[in-house]
Amino acid sequence: MALRTEYDYSLLRHNTFGIDVRTDCFIEYHSESELISALQELRAHGCPKLLAIGGGSNLLFCGDFEGAVLRSDIRSVTVRPGEKEGEVSVRVGSGHNWDAFVAYALSNGWYGAENLSGIPGDAGASAVQNIGAYGVEVKDLIVKVEAINAESCEKRVFTAEECGYAYRDSIFKRPENKKYIITYVTYRLQTAFEPNFSYRALADRFAGRIGRHTGRHPLFTAADIRREVVSMRGEKLPSPAVLGNAGSFFMNPVVSQERYRELAAQYPEMPHYEAGEGLVKLSAAWLIDRSGWKGRSLGRAAVYEKQPLVLVNLGGATGEEILTLARAVVADVAARFGVTLEMEVNQIR
Ligand code: EPU
Repeated sequence: MALRTEYDYSLLRHNTFGIDVRTDCFIEYHSESELISALQELRAHGCPKLLAIGGGSNLLFCGDFEGAVLRSDIRSVTVRPGEKEGEVSVRVGSGHNWDAFVAYALSNGWYGAENLSGIPGDAGASAVQNIGAYGVEVKDLIVKVEAINAESCEKRVFTAEECGYAYRDSIFKRPENKKYIITYVTYRLQTAFEPNFSYRALADRFAGRIGRHTGRHPLFTAADIRREVVSMRGEKLPSPAVLGNAGSFFMNPVVSQERYRELAAQYPEMPHYEAGEGLVKLSAAWLIDRSGWKGRSLGRAAVYEKQPLVLVNLGGATGEEILTLARAVVADVAARFGVTLEMEVNQIR
């Protein structure tokens, strides 16, 4: 396949928020060598600003992008025996749709990603964002990440440790590392199914069947977990095909035990989760809900009625309109609870 290059190109179909912005140049590549030739070509034309995107499910475009957008269409999947018995190592092209990969893994009897079913976006972005849901973070599965340095065109392989993973965070989100364009991600999966029920609401759905899944006639399979996760997501999260959004807009805030105790004295019902190292994670959805923002809109942007952590585009909203709403929510939560919400979505200017 050859490089696909478009000029003055609409990004409407490339961001799940459905923001109608344009880019000077849009390039889709299918291999590392195509990416390198695209980068060399761009350099020959004076090094425009670059943006590497995946499925565009975690981006907020705040205006037209004056530069070149690079989109991976590397979609190969190759499997090798893992480091340990009972493991496989699966190398996935960064442009492979994440959820299609989860389904493919399950159909091959490779387990561990089923709790991350239904998450929009591509494999490459999974490694930038450290996607997480229902008790699993992708960092638990990542072995290594391959990337091309857009400045030197050299390849670099990062071990999972070098990626600096934390809650919805990695070194790839730092400005100085934006030059690394991810081409492949290698995941470690298991060949025997062992359910992860660390997320209470998921465990509840299997109540009565937990602990009895092994044996010749298991009471449930990894495909059942996938089905439940997709159904739980469907109950709370809007489909981008219907209502533009980028999943959780904010991260769940982490506060000190001391600060939590002060808040809990006032709001004993406040949901909270131990986050280790004397820290407590609060629920952004709850804080926003209790600030009165659930279901409210400002212009063409709204706080989703079923999950207030999600901001939605009611139709034709600009990135600035979404941001205006986000700032109003942050200000009210800060005024009421003294907690600052941080954005999870990447703002692009
Ligand atoms: N809540 C409310 N009001 C609501 C909805 C929720 O108060 O209208 C409170 C409830 O107390 C509930 C709590 O919020 O128990 C947590 O809600 P939920 O289980 O939906 O999880 P979350 O913390 O809001 C996180 C992730 C999601 C992920 C779910 C499931 C972040 C930023 N978000 O949401 O990830 O799917 O857990 O694991 O960590 C994403 O990153 O885009 C995303 C959707």
